[in-house]
Amino acid sequence: MSLSFIYQRHSVRKFKDEPVKDNDLMEILKAATYAPSGKNKQNWHFVIIKDKEKIKKIAQIVHEKTNYLASKVDDENLKQNFLKFLYYHTFFKDAPVLILAFAGPYPIGSDQILKIAGEDEALKRVISASPGIQNIAAAIENLMLAAAQLGYGTCWMTGPNYAVIEIEKFLEKEFLKEGYELVAMTPLGVPQESELKSPQRKPLSEVITIIE
Ligand SMILES: Cc1cc2nc3c(=O)[nH]c(=O)nc-3n(C[C@H](O)[C@H](O)[C@H](O)COP(=O)(O)O)c2cc1C
Repeated sequence: MSLSFIYQRHSVRKFKDEPVKDNDLMEILKAATYAPSGKNKQNWHFVIIKDKEKIKKIAQIVHEKTNYLASKVDDENLKQNFLKFLYYHTFFKDAPVLILAFAGPYPIGSDQILKIAGEDEALKRVISASPGIQNIAAAIENLMLAAAQLGYGTCWMTGPNYAVIEIEKFLEKEFLKEGYELVAMTPLGVPQESELKSPQRKPLSEVITIIE
């Protein structure tokens, strides 16, 4: 069995000026929702922006927040290093579609483990493993693998998250769902380059331990 569907996904940051077919978009979103989720809570919500002006506006919001944060930094090196990432936080401005991934409440607070473990150190680990966010990550990965199979490019983005409050505010007339927060985004479109590449992976031996 071929695993090529895994290796065909690469982060794509430049897109052709071609639309995403509605059927394909719905297939991709459906694939996202077939991800596993803790207690089957499916605590995700995807906001799909097809309006190019709104996509540009979101990139502009990130750009402005970047400049605002940079303007408050005295350390010139720190400021320049931060500004270097601007492209990686705004390149989606010309994409035909932008998908925003929101995370809804995941009831870790009502878990029995909270009552049972009390002040136990292990409790911090239960919380820091963030199962509610893991659910969203699983859905995003499904979405990206499905998109790649259908010939589209995506790029998982959390870099612009320092502007989530401003982005949520910009969208609040069209999307507002109690307890849901923007956690990641990805552009979606036909890749400009035909030969896609990803950075090298660490050798397998460095990242696995087999216990027999
Ligand atoms: C949680 C997460 C956040 C990321 N945020 C950004 C981002 O803000 N901007 C960006 O250009 N790439 C971002 N990436 C893409 C990574 O740089 C990319 O996945 C990595 O370099 C491996 O390349 P590949 O996706 O082509 O395999 C992000 C990836 C992940 C998983």
